Amino acid sequence: MIPKFVSLEGGEGSGKSTQVKILSNFLASNGYSVLRTREPGGSSGAEAVRTLLLSRSWDPLAEMALHFAARREHWSRSIRPSLEAGSWVVCDRFFDSTLAYQVGGQGAPREVWDQLRAALLGKVAPDLTLLLDVPVEVGLARATARGDTNRYETLGSEFHRRVRQTFLDQAKAEPGRFAVIDATQPLAKVSADIRDTCRARLGLP
Ligand SMILES: Nc1ncnc2c1ncn2[C@@H]1O[C@H](COP(=O)(O)OP(=O)(O)OP(=O)(O)O)[C@@H](O)[C@H]1O
Ligand SMILES: [Mg+2]
Repeated sequence: MIPKFVSLEGGEGSGKSTQVKILSNFLASNGYSVLRTREPGGSSGAEAVRTLLLSRSWDPLAEMALHFAARREHWSRSIRPSLEAGSWVVCDRFFDSTLAYQVGGQGAPREVWDQLRAALLGKVAPDLTLLLDVPVEVGLARATARGDTNRYETLGSEFHRRVRQTFLDQAKAEPGRFAVIDATQPLAKVSADIRDTCRARLGLP
């Protein structure tokens, strides 16, 4: 079976990191080789950019360019070689997060996202993007309960509402790539929906 590239997207506290782990373990327990990775980061250069990104606030366009620079590194040095070597790739956030946060949330121009994507990644895209959708208040409450507030978590609920809406609009625009998962459900039901979606869309047994 040709290995697949799966990204998980969603706002703060939607359960991405939890489900990335569960899906990777499920694939591995079925005998697939799996790279579990995350953005920003996922390769040594991209992790260095992550540290820069998280260290201060940035002009939205500069921030978008840094994300795409890191993503190019991550793709070319980690994701692509893994797929070529026969591994599945399960990635915690990919380019849809840049659209949702920098364009939807911070108001950077959409054309710049399109241009950076085309210039740095060409036609590269995940085979499947699982959008874990939760109301903003639910996600922020989970993230706060978890105890590590990041820079975005302090930005206010209007920002996060725009992020959520941008993800949902993008899912509607690309129904062939996206699946929207109701992430307000109990954790085990979210995992089951994710597995069912992977079976239906990617031909997993
Ligand atoms: N379906 C669920 N129901 C209730 N709690 C959940 C569910 N999924 C995850 N959680 C809990 O919510 C918190 C946030 O989950 P997680 O860290 O996976 O989210 P995330 O999307 O990766 O967040 P961030 O965007 O901040 O990285 C964790 O404490 C996790 O255990
Ligand atoms: Mg996370």
